[in-house]
Amino acid sequence: MNVKGQWVWITGASSGLGLELAKQLAQQGANLVITARRADRLEALAKELSVGGVEVRALAADMSRHADVERLLVEVKKLPLVAVVLNAGVTHFGHHHEMEWASFEAMLHTNVIGTTRVTSELVRHYQATGASLRIMLVTSMAGLMPVPFQAAYSGTKAFLTAFGTALAHELKGTNISVTVFAPGGIATEMTSGDRFESLRGWLAPVGDVAQEARSALAARQPLHVQGFVNRLGLFAFRFLPRNLVMGQLGRQYRKALSDAASKPRS
Ligand SMILES: NC(=O)c1ccc[n+]([C@@H]2O[C@H](COP(=O)([O-])OP(=O)(O)OC[C@H]3O[C@@H](n4cnc5c(N)ncnc54)[C@H](OP(=O)(O)O)[C@@H]3O)[C@@H](O)[C@H]2O)c1
Repeated sequence: MNVKGQWVWITGASSGLGLELAKQLAQQGANLVITARRADRLEALAKELSVGGVEVRALAADMSRHADVERLLVEVKKLPLVAVVLNAGVTHFGHHHEMEWASFEAMLHTNVIGTTRVTSELVRHYQATGASLRIMLVTSMAGLMPVPFQAAYSGTKAFLTAFGTALAHELKGTNISVTVFAPGGIATEMTSGDRFESLRGWLAPVGDVAQEARSALAARQPLHVQGFVNRLGLFAFRFLPRNLVMGQLGRQYRKALSDAASKPRS
């Protein structure tokens, strides 16, 4: 996929996978719209990447807020986007009952409603213009294999997985493709806290994950599970009793939480 001089929108570009994708795409000469809540980070990144003729527009917006999402849509519809990576997302790793209801609502609005609103409106708009558009929804393995202690997050990613893959097939043969990209654990800000300490060995380097995301987007794959080990795990999941796998996952994540709780505070 030749992105040189073409416009790509990345949500959640202020850190982690979104930031890495922005860097890699800018290196390939893509012009970027980068969005997230932290305006200072976006501005700094836009400055860093605006070299060698690359144009970068930083738009601070909260994907959990309806008005912000609508404002972004107005702005991006002015540009001839060739791709959009809907990557912004949040998790809660811990007992579900510890999660404030307001945090759950913010997660639902960010991961599901904001992302689905953008997808729906861009599909409608590009169907009308007839121009080519690749849409990527960044989901998670948790959307395919629910994870205890990330129950709400798993639910949001399961929605996106089902919505995205169904839409991908609905749009087959049209000017618009949808790619559901499902990573396993990645070493980013999301997994930087104490609670992920004992799981750190499982986390993939963000550069490798971004590279795989770019290939899946270029290939217009309807669903891409990131990493060989994750694909193998998912394959095995089909043949093993669900309770056994869920029990094992639950034990592993419960241990990570109790290790973090017993860690001396500095
Ligand atoms: N890390 C993992 O292990 C892992 C595994 C599977 C899937 N994923 C998925 O990969 C995607 C990227 O996550 P990451 O690992 O790169 O985490 P990250 O470093 O925490 O990045 C998350 C990005 O989303 C943005 N964001 C969060 N809430 C937002 C909101 N309400 N409005 C706008 N932007 C918002 C954040 O920016 P601001 O805070 O500046 O708004 C940040 O740029 C997420 O969808 C995540 O679910 C991650």
